[in-house]
Amino acid sequence: MAENSDSEAAAISQHALSYRPASINGEFLGKHIISVDQFQRRDLDILFDAAAAIRKRIRTHDRGLTELCAGKVMASLFFEASTRTDMSFQSAMRRLGGDVIAVSNGVRFSSMYKGENLSDTIRATGCYADVIVLRHPEIGSSYEAGYYLDLLNGRIDNPTVAISGGDGIGEHPTQALLDIFTIFDQKKSLDNLAITLVGDLKHGRTVHSLAKLIAYYDASGVRLCMVAPESLAMPADITDLVEAHGIRVTQTEDLRDVIAETDVIYWTRIQEERFADGAEYDGIKDRFIMTPAVMARAKADAILMHPLPRKHEMGTRSDHDILDADPRSIYFEQMENGMFVRMALLVKVLRGVYV
Ligand code: NCD
Repeated sequence: MAENSDSEAAAISQHALSYRPASINGEFLGKHIISVDQFQRRDLDILFDAAAAIRKRIRTHDRGLTELCAGKVMASLFFEASTRTDMSFQSAMRRLGGDVIAVSNGVRFSSMYKGENLSDTIRATGCYADVIVLRHPEIGSSYEAGYYLDLLNGRIDNPTVAISGGDGIGEHPTQALLDIFTIFDQKKSLDNLAITLVGDLKHGRTVHSLAKLIAYYDASGVRLCMVAPESLAMPADITDLVEAHGIRVTQTEDLRDVIAETDVIYWTRIQEERFADGAEYDGIKDRFIMTPAVMARAKADAILMHPLPRKHEMGTRSDHDILDADPRSIYFEQMENGMFVRMALLVKVLRGVYV
């Protein structure tokens, strides 16, 4: 939006602030996916059953999958960098027989570069697509999409749903869905797990959504450890919410306090692009580095997750290679699961069918 001098065009509208997306309540069809606040345990069970079924069907080369979203169009609207979220959604839609349209680089080549505001861009996209996957740097942008698509849907024949692919430092709901699916896949239950989130818990939208979704699952005996420098701590409203769901929360700046007791280690990148002050980032970026020596302290049956991309928070390239070979590192499986979970979600919101 380099040429956009009109700050009003760039801003999120007042409507987005008070917009509340509908709860899933067992029925995904036609619902926007904006926040993990829409989900309860039952919804996750439905989605995970579908994702597991889809995974099995892919592995057995079931051609019937391409009937599930045949004739549907997904728009990929990304105003921030993405590899996994964008590609896994695109691949998911294609494997379901749907088509994908995209403004290949939303910032440079959409009309927002000419000064169009997000709500107009969203409604334009809604005229052409059945589902929009939106990633945007402004917190609340996905709420804006939900609000304005509801207005549009009242006027056009073909309603469109929005799925958040991440709104700034807000939330990343589909990442949390795939993360919990992966934990289930590996551990078979959330009950009694000690889950440790490490790194930039202030700016990391994946951990915001994940912490809340763990709370909404209402498993018994879950402990959540948050390891971050004080200036990058998890926002208090999220820790309060988690504790209100009966989860024991430990906050520390020292991973050594908790690593030996942890079942799920969720590592994250310090979000360099969110720092206004480069010196602040430089002063903090080396605080938490996962290396083979750190992993040596973890339980034999712990799992190491990371939403990726990774930089130096997983050490050097040779550290990466050693960590990648550790059977406890499951971030490649986590990535692949992203596609299965997103396929399940697309089928559910677009068709509502049981897979
Ligand atoms: C994350 C994101 O975009 O929030 N990446 C992803 O979607 N897998 C994490 C990150 O960028 O650090």
